[in-house]
Parts: sequence; structure tokens; C-alpha cells
Amino acid sequence: MKKVMVVYHSQEFGNTEKVAELVAQGVRQAGDIQVEMINTNEVQRVDIKALAEADGVALGSPDYGSYVAGTIKQVFDDIYMANKVGISVQGKPCVLFMTHGGGGHAIEPFRRMARNLKLVAEPFVCQREPEEGCPEAVALGEALGKAVLG
Ligand SMILES: Cc1cc2nc3c(=O)[nH]c(=O)nc-3n(C[C@H](O)[C@H](O)[C@H](O)COP(=O)(O)O)c2cc1C
Repeated sequence: MKKVMVVYHSQEFGNTEKVAELVAQGVRQAGDIQVEMINTNEVQRVDIKALAEADGVALGSPDYGSYVAGTIKQVFDDIYMANKVGISVQGKPCVLFMTHGGGGHAIEPFRRMARNLKLVAEPFVCQREPEEGCPEAVALGEALGKAVLG
């Protein structure tokens, strides 16, 4: 069975977690795909080998000072270091999502950091929490699921 990892930081209000759940719902709607959710605020470190073995990845962050949350930056740093020892996420199907409080500038560095992954849809960005059932967030997950299933 194909596997997608939904890796996100959520801490302040749970806004990013709500988007993550909708994205996961979309991935599952696309077909028979195992979804693993990881809130980076609740784990020591994301296992990059597991990430590299997954068929697709959704990455989510709140905007913190016009940048991604520190734990998501750590994921990108770890991806960079893992690549040096042959653990690569290069070209892996990926989607990005972000929540913010009114600025939202973090999406630019977020996109730059994800440049070695293969973005299969435009990032989903929303101010504060997503609307109930937010179709755009679900569609993002569905796009990832379809890309993974080929
Ligand atoms: C430390 C910190 C810094 C933040 N900096 C920004 C910012 O620069 N721009 C912005 O639009 N929102 C900023 N916010 C607001 C959060 O991005 C927003 O509330 C987000 O939806 C929180 O996601 P969460 O509830 O999943 O943790 C900041 C919040 C915190 C806690």
C-alpha cells in the first residue's frame, strides 16, 4: 500500500493541525493510501529515512516571524544532511500548507526550502483556521494522493 506522511507544526491554536487533518482526508479520498500524521511540536525529531521511504509528503507550518516554524526548518536541515549519506527525498511528490495571522510571508522561504521535492499542487495558505470542511485543503490532499497513486 502507498504511504503519505503529513508532517506539520501546530501549537498556538491548532489551526495548522486542522488543515493537516483536511489534507489527510483528501489523501484518503484519492484511494487506498496509508496516512501517517506527525505534529513536529510533539516529537523529538522526524525520521528522515521514513520520510524518504514514503511515497508522498505533505508539509505544513504556521508563519512564525515570516518564516516556517523552527521544527519544520529542522526537518529541511535534516533532509539536507540525510542527502549527504544517500537518503534522498529528491523529486518526491509533495504539497505545502501554511496558516498565518495576517502576514503570510513565510510561504516564500517555505517554497524555497521544498525546491528539491516535487510540488504537485499550489500551496494552500489560510489566515488563522480553515473554514469548516475547507474544500481547498481537501483538494490539496487529493492532488497529492492522485500523484502518489500515479
Ligand atoms: C511565535 C509566533 C510568531 C508568529 N509570527 C507571525 C508572522 O510573522 N506572520 C503572521 O502572519 N502570523 C504570525 N503568527 C501567527 C501564526 O502564524 C498563526 O496564528 C497560526 O495560524 C498558528 O498556527 P497553529 O495554531 O497551528 O500553531 C505567529 C505566531 C507565533 C506563536
